[in-house]
Amino acid sequence: MDRCFGARANPLRHLGALAYLMFWLITASGVYLFAFFETSVSGAHASVQAMSGRGLGGIARSLHRYASDALVLLVALHVLREFALRRDFGFRWFTWVSGVPLLWLMLFAGIGGFWLVWDDVALFSLGATLEWFDALGLFGEPLARNVLAPEYLDDRLFSLLVFLHVGVPLALLLGMYIHIQRVSRPDTRPAQALTLGTLGVLLALSLVQPVISAAPAEVARVAAALALDWFYLAPHALMYQWSPAALWALMLGATLLLAALPLLPHPGRMPAAQVDARHCNGCRRCVDDCPYAAITMAAHPDPRRGMEVAVVDAALCAACGICAGACPSSTPFRKAARLDTGIDLPLLTMDTLRVRVDAALTALRGDTRVLVFGCDAGADVHALQSGDTATLSLVCAGQLPPGFVEYALRHGAHGVLVAACAEDGCQFRLGARWSAERLQGRRAPHLRPHVPAHAWRLVHAARHDLRGLQAGLGALREALHAHAAMLPEHAHA
Ligand code: HEM
Ligand code: SF4
Ligand code: SF4
Repeated sequence: MDRCFGARANPLRHLGALAYLMFWLITASGVYLFAFFETSVSGAHASVQAMSGRGLGGIARSLHRYASDALVLLVALHVLREFALRRDFGFRWFTWVSGVPLLWLMLFAGIGGFWLVWDDVALFSLGATLEWFDALGLFGEPLARNVLAPEYLDDRLFSLLVFLHVGVPLALLLGMYIHIQRVSRPDTRPAQALTLGTLGVLLALSLVQPVISAAPAEVARVAAALALDWFYLAPHALMYQWSPAALWALMLGATLLLAALPLLPHPGRMPAAQVDARHCNGCRRCVDDCPYAAITMAAHPDPRRGMEVAVVDAALCAACGICAGACPSSTPFRKAARLDTGIDLPLLTMDTLRVRVDAALTALRGDTRVLVFGCDAGADVHALQSGDTATLSLVCAGQLPPGFVEYALRHGAHGVLVAACAEDGCQFRLGARWSAERLQGRRAPHLRPHVPAHAWRLVHAARHDLRGLQAGLGALREALHAHAAMLPEHAHA
């Protein structure tokens, strides 16, 4: 998909953002439809029917339906993808668990919409839903029989249905807002190309296959055949195939299972980042760069300093080290024997990293010596290891302070390759992006401008993309050879 669309416009990399886009499209088209909708048993069907076809109303209606269907598809793929990437536990537990109620809200927001059309499908869906709730045995009298009796089918009931169809999506929006509270800079707005492409597809679908209603609802008549929207109404079919109790068991069981996934045994959590107030100058760069909003600023432990220092909430910390890569104190050029920095990962400290870089540089041999920095979640850089290529894997490419690139070049490497995860595919959301921006001088801490551009290279390579990694190394070596060929002594020779 990346090859077809590019990472920024690859729908599979932006499923949550596309779900947001669908929500706004449903809202905009819904507001238009509401303006022309008649809230009454006798007028609803005709008013919706008048907004069908290829006119403006018809397009709004079809977009409203197809965007709702797309929402279900996108959210299903989003859940599958997050699960496949094992993002259902640890520091992500809140985001995972807060996603679960969204599934119910989305389903009810959609099903309630079908009722307002007040056609055969509406009557069937309303009846099936009421029967389903009746099976709980919470209501003295069966809802299905009472609500669908002609004397209850009045405009007051219809106002209630409209109220539900506005209220449940509002609750969904609130839930969506809560869902992204623990990620900073959430990806809620797809790139322009992806937005326009998605809207184009939905518009084309609306023009080719406009949504139409079934015959007007009549309580006394049983429809011979119903064209169901399977994205939302499949549970009704399942209920009549099995039983209301079986459907409850399936839906509640699946919900509990999803919500309980974070409680299952998982690999232990990595120790959180730690702040060393002695080396923190209160610059807030780590706060800006942390992908999980795990850092805040608080008063310095020594009030005489009159400044703020970073504080990590260990419960939110992903142990990605991106903060250490952002900290100005993480520069390897510092003279002290131990490289203590403002914020560091116990798992791989900046001091350990500098010791490993020194050792790797000492062991390098050959005419064109390259040091490769990679990340544990991306392509395995150790596969590149050879006499003239040393490799070091970090927790995340974003953990690498750009100063280390210059440091390696000054201490024996001819070239440095930084391998980050695929674009928009960073395991820690923002690491690959920050890494690129820092190296390209667009984000502090910058790689200093006097570092020769031919001597370093950034490559994006997903977990199994060894070929991409090799291509990056090949391109760096080519640039190094081309540069060497241009040097005066070479020209002489
Ligand atoms: C209406 C439904 C949903 C919407 C609109 C939605 C949207 C989003 C968005 C925008 C993000 C942030 C992506 C980023 O910036 O990296 C996100 C993250 C996430 N979502 Fe959802 N989501 C929905 C439902 C769900 C459900 C049902 C689950 C699971 C049960 C889920 C699990 C997650 C997880 C685990 C993340 C965290 C990814 C990470 O930490 O890298 N979401 N979602
Ligand atoms: S290690 Fe990652 S998640 Fe933890 S505080 Fe640092 S940047 Fe934030
Ligand atoms: S980046 Fe370093 S110096 Fe700046 S606030 Fe964070 S810990 Fe302190």
